This record gives sequence, C-alpha cells and structure tokens, in this order.
Amino acid sequence: MLGSLKADILLQAAMRTETQLIIDREALQPIGAFDANSPAEAFTGKVGPRQVVLVTHGRDPTHQCDRIGTIPAATTCAAALARFSPKLIVNIGTCGGFLARGGSIGDLHLPERVAFHDQRVPIPGFREFARGELNTLPVDALRAELGALGGTCSSGGSLDATPEDRAILETLEARCKDMEAAAIAFVARDWRVPFIAVKCVTDLVDDPEAVQDAFLRNLRSATMRLATAASALLRSDYLPV
Ligand code: ADE
Repeated sequence: MLGSLKADILLQAAMRTETQLIIDREALQPIGAFDANSPAEAFTGKVGPRQVVLVTHGRDPTHQCDRIGTIPAATTCAAALARFSPKLIVNIGTCGGFLARGGSIGDLHLPERVAFHDQRVPIPGFREFARGELNTLPVDALRAELGALGGTCSSGGSLDATPEDRAILETLEARCKDMEAAAIAFVARDWRVPFIAVKCVTDLVDDPEAVQDAFLRNLRSATMRLATAASALLRSDYLPV
C-alpha cells in the first residue's frame, strides 16, 4: 500500500509529542519509515473524503531525540513529497510568540509569510536568498474558522535568539518564531505544492523567562490546542483540496 499511497493533505510535525493526540483522535494508522535513509515516520487515514498522511521527523539515531530543526524539516518534506505526492502541505507545531506584538501563550497562528532570521549573508542577491521570505497559501477563511492569527513566522536553527536574531525578527515584524516552517515552505515552493503552517505559542521570545522553561511547561497544552485545530482544519470547507 505504501508505494501507491497518495495524500490529499500532508501534515508535517517535527516532534512525535506534537502529533500523538492527532494520531489518536483521527485514528491514523502507522505506516512506519517511508525513506530508507531517514528515521522519519508516517501515519495515514481518511478524514471524510481526504486522505491524510502525517509525517514526523523521527528520532535521531545518534542523539536519541526528535529531529527538530530546519535540516530534518527540509529532508523529511522532500522525501514525503516524493513518496506521497500531496496536494497540500501543512506544517504543524509549536512556536515562540512576542509580548511586544501582543502575543500570549496558547495563541494559534496561521502565518501569511515565512522567513529565516538566522541566515545572514551580507552580499546583494544572497541576502534575500538567505532571508527566504515566502508567502503561504492565502487562507483567510480558514484562519478565521480556527480563530488563528496571521503575520510572519520566522524560522531558525535555535530555540533561543541571539541579539542579531532578535534584530532581524524585529525587522520582519515576526509574530511567531519556530524551527521548521520556512524550510518546509522552501521545499514546497520548489515542488509547486501549496503550503500552510499552524503553530501554537509555548513561550515568549521577549519574556525574561528562559524559553526552554516555558516551552517544556506549556508543551502539553499547546499540543492539545494543535490537535483541536488539526481536527477542524482536516474537516474544513475552506481548504483548496
Ligand atoms: N518552538 C517553540 N518555541 C520556540 C521558540 N522560542 N523558538 C523556536 N521554536 C520554538
């Protein structure tokens, strides 16, 4: 079945924790590894008429942790596109928010734009390439249905943010900071597959508390909010597929 399985919607999440509730609620069945050279795992099921494939990046064989970050995001996305030919990619996961932009723990975001805040190349042409700004598929009605916010989500390889990262996040007017969305959008653009992201805020980048402490404390509640959002999204009349 795996070889011929095609997805209407590909849900992609870095961490298994972020997806277990979705797998349980939608009764998605494990189909295991789908790329011989990657620990990424897939699950599938039908939600109404839509064939859904959910992929997580899997556990790193050396470090025994979930493979978060932009590199596994891009490699997993490319492998999943090749294997499942989805009509739409939805990156689902947690993010940091910003007090200065009115953000709160638990906010849901469906960003209108993605970018990278930690790729800096001060050479004309390469500067813009490195920044990687891309628009997501316009989904205003879906955003309203989910009660989500718009704006820019900026991705980078770190959970924390250096002063240089913070300055670029400010320039981008980012409302959400993650470690995957812009990398997946980059691959989706090459494959000409529409891309959206759904992110829930676990921590506030500009709060004095260390982001990792807030992230770990709020991960469970964010996961619940994401599962509720995923159920609504998968059944929404406002999706193009
Ligand atoms: N995921 C959750 N919180 C995050 C943060 N502050 N930065 C990047 N990714 C995150």
